[in-house]
Amino acid sequence: MSDFAEIILDGKSYKMPVVVGTEDEKAIDINNLRSESGYITLDSGYKNTGATESAITFLDGEEGILRYRGYPIEQLAEQSSFIEVAYLLIYGKLPTQQELDVFTNEIKIHTLVNEDMRKILDGFPSTAHPMGILSALISSLTAFYPESLNPNQSKEEVNLTIIRLMAKLPTIAAWSYKNSIGHPVNYPKNKLDYCSNFLHMMFAYPTEDYQIDPVVVTALNKLLILHADHEQNCSTSTVRLVGSANASLYSSVSAGISALWGPLHGGANQAVIEMLEQIKADGGDSKKFIAKAKDKDDPFRLMGFGHRVYKNFDPRATIIKKAADEVLTALGVNDPILDIAKELEEAALTDQYFVDRKLYPNVDFYSGIIYRALGIPTDMFTVMFALGRLPGWIAQWKEMREQKEPIGRPRQVYTGEKERNYVPMNGR
Ligand code: MLT
Repeated sequence: MSDFAEIILDGKSYKMPVVVGTEDEKAIDINNLRSESGYITLDSGYKNTGATESAITFLDGEEGILRYRGYPIEQLAEQSSFIEVAYLLIYGKLPTQQELDVFTNEIKIHTLVNEDMRKILDGFPSTAHPMGILSALISSLTAFYPESLNPNQSKEEVNLTIIRLMAKLPTIAAWSYKNSIGHPVNYPKNKLDYCSNFLHMMFAYPTEDYQIDPVVVTALNKLLILHADHEQNCSTSTVRLVGSANASLYSSVSAGISALWGPLHGGANQAVIEMLEQIKADGGDSKKFIAKAKDKDDPFRLMGFGHRVYKNFDPRATIIKKAADEVLTALGVNDPILDIAKELEEAALTDQYFVDRKLYPNVDFYSGIIYRALGIPTDMFTVMFALGRLPGWIAQWKEMREQKEPIGRPRQVYTGEKERNYVPMNGR
């Protein structure tokens, strides 16, 4: 293996060191390329660009491998809890029982949000998308905890911000839903575990007792674990980039939420269900839509298929598909759009067109289905993704700060006009 890459430009040779990760991932370190040669690299969408060295998540897109801090996603999804995985991602190790208890209790202490946050919430129209509310309210936490704006906070102070964010995001997320349906909000119940408490805040009515279904809690734990981190995806890169400007953790995560909202990123799980509903409303003929998806002149696009980095399969999709089958059986869900989903899935796995293009169902395809079965409204799917991704965003922000990374500042190749003189209005 080479120790360096040789780049020849204008007849001159430049040697760039090769960096190798613990899983043998190789990168050419071009930190000095511009200063030495005057050239930059161009990589739209950063498909070949490593933005950082990170010890949090390992992903092998060819082999379908995903590990958090070295632990395979399959083992974590089967044996761990979301809170334990959050600890693992944020602090880099599996907690002892005592460490887990302390972490859990610290989060419980901070689940309430300032009553003034409710006034901000009241200002949103009931039609507001919960992701917009979530992003705005998470950013507004900086107003209630202005000390988080100080980039020189001590380790303990940063940790308190982390705990507050872990504690308050579920409350704000559930409140954004209650706002959208015009119902009073529920306050957190600290005797409940993280997932049960969220379900209580989402679904309980002041008028009735709410029974938490253990099947739903188990499924939610698994879903959140599967979404907890995914190395340098769009929202995580956003969190790191915003954080690199010394923005607070709250503002950085708020920016990450906005990035996640996009239908090409976290919004895909909502787009999947909307697509299935569109097919159902059109008569439910999935074959017609499969033909449309193959027709390059047709604007219809299959949502929830293929993945930017997984080339053969998404390991999360394998786990979630099994969980979806179990949950649907356990809850006795009979939903006509699931039949359409199954037909699309079948087509994608057997039709040569999809096989050749590696358009297999991804995690967003199944997560939409499972969230729907759990009674989570479509508008809230991406909020659920954010709830799961939170520990990953926190861990990545913390790592970026601890590694003292410089402010993110990509370059460009300018393709606009050469210098020209200003033309006064009467001369145009
Ligand atoms: C994610 O989990 O963030 C998505 O699969 C998108 C990605 O990794 O690019």
